[in-house]
Amino acid sequence: MVDFKEVISECLKQMIDEMTIEEIKLLIEVPPNKEMGDYAFPCFKLAKIFRKSPNMIAEEIAKNLLLTEDITKVINLGGYVNFFVNKEQLAKKVINQVLSEKSEYGKSDMGKGKKVIVDFSSPNIAKPFHIGHIRTTVIGNALHKIYESQGYDTVRINHLGDYGTQFGKLIVAYKLWGNKEAVEENPIKELLKLYVKFHDEAELKPEMEDEARAWFTKLEHGDHEAKELWQWFRDESLKEFQRVYDLLEIDFDSFAGESFYSDKMDAVVEELTKKGLLVESQGTMIVDLEDENLPPALIQKNDGSTLYLTRDLAAGIYRKNTYDFEKCIYVVGSQQILHFQQYFAVIKKMGYDWYKDLIHVPFGMVALEEGTMSTRKGRVVFLEDVLNQAIEKTKEIIIEKNPEAGDIDQIAKEVGVGAVVFQELSNSRIKDYTFSWDRTLSFEGETGPYVQYTHARCCAVKRKANEEVTANVNYDLLADEDASEVLKVIETFNKSIVLAMTKNEPHIVTRFVLDLAQAFNKFYHNRPILVDDKDLKLARLALVEATRQTIENALKLLGINSPTKM
Ligand code: ARG
Repeated sequence: MVDFKEVISECLKQMIDEMTIEEIKLLIEVPPNKEMGDYAFPCFKLAKIFRKSPNMIAEEIAKNLLLTEDITKVINLGGYVNFFVNKEQLAKKVINQVLSEKSEYGKSDMGKGKKVIVDFSSPNIAKPFHIGHIRTTVIGNALHKIYESQGYDTVRINHLGDYGTQFGKLIVAYKLWGNKEAVEENPIKELLKLYVKFHDEAELKPEMEDEARAWFTKLEHGDHEAKELWQWFRDESLKEFQRVYDLLEIDFDSFAGESFYSDKMDAVVEELTKKGLLVESQGTMIVDLEDENLPPALIQKNDGSTLYLTRDLAAGIYRKNTYDFEKCIYVVGSQQILHFQQYFAVIKKMGYDWYKDLIHVPFGMVALEEGTMSTRKGRVVFLEDVLNQAIEKTKEIIIEKNPEAGDIDQIAKEVGVGAVVFQELSNSRIKDYTFSWDRTLSFEGETGPYVQYTHARCCAVKRKANEEVTANVNYDLLADEDASEVLKVIETFNKSIVLAMTKNEPHIVTRFVLDLAQAFNKFYHNRPILVDDKDLKLARLALVEATRQTIENALKLLGINSPTKM
């Protein structure tokens, strides 16, 4: 791939001993307008080193630089060295590469032989799969695809919240007020009702809490009735979750949730004891983390039951032994930052140097316009409802605007779901935001449907042209400003993916594909494609195809489909 910044940095390096290629590259900017060239290198830093004015340095560099075939002209402008790149060369390299690599374009094998675990989605059994889970679900899926595109062997784990004292409560509630048919008909809503009722009643009758604890202990000891009920709650909940995963087309390699570690925690407690890390504190067992500036990690409650943290410790050790990961990434909300700090700190204290490979990728909270979400108060927006409404609304729009589009149900699904996913991946992860139906279902501006529409537009142009599209075209015809802008964006695809990967920020890929769609639409409006001049037509069609392919590849990394008509 031509990396013009790299080419320019290498050229400059010949005259600048005092900086590394990397340092030079970081300084390179894009000038505010085209007349000033494609790239600019500021000489202000060098002024101190060379003890000359930036203007003089820029002039000297511009005069003496040895150019390569990728750069056509160099000028100096007020302390900057400005570069004009060879547009034909750019067109030739980019078009050839995209049209020959096709769906492989953007990929690399930098991660070959290395394993990355992505722990994501992980909803809690018998609780709603709500809008608060969308971020971990789509960010995690995108990270998996992004790592995989760079050759990593990824393992997708759904660390289901399927264990803990709440199951004791649920069993008590079900035995008191439950109805089998009602649960089967509407598992999560019914189980949630039981859970809420338990809390209401337990406020008046605190002894119910003891009963719930007793049932959880039974479950931990493998009591037949407890296990059967728990298994049923789990199966019914999973059925509901699966409907959402099907809509999103998301798969997992493992559903080993918290319960999977129920028989692996004694070993952790034992190991902590052996290593002298476990201390008693008011009847509970903790690991002191004062030297890490963290509050103590609670490992075992006074009734001997273990906690979420203990299960994560067991899971971490199990995963290291089973997968020997290079990195284990946890896509979990920012409310759990402390939890992960404590968990990683305990692993470090246990003497495992792979604590460094455990990465918490936090994200901001989703609030509702009515206030924070509260499952207990019934203030919750179900993810499935959001996706289905988005599909319905899309269907209405398509029927109105393009009734001949073809398989309308399929397109509505791809565009409706794509709209929701794209919006979740549009912001930097860490920002909190307020969920709004209006914004999610708006297709104006920088949205998923806008990008998908650009893809469908490329497909429509190709259909209409009815020509064989090849990379064998006259590249001089793609040297205009609008075409060069598109090519320059396409050229940065791999770099954007790698950056998104290093920062665990899929929104960098979202930004990339929006930039590409915008550059292409400008080209489309300014430069007619299906012209009489056959060479010009073929050259522009090659650019259309390179754009189409790159949009498809980019959306795929985000977990979004690219319909050919809409
Ligand atoms: N079930 C948890 C929740 O809903 C998320 C689990 C995240 N993964 C983990 N290994 N702790 O908050």
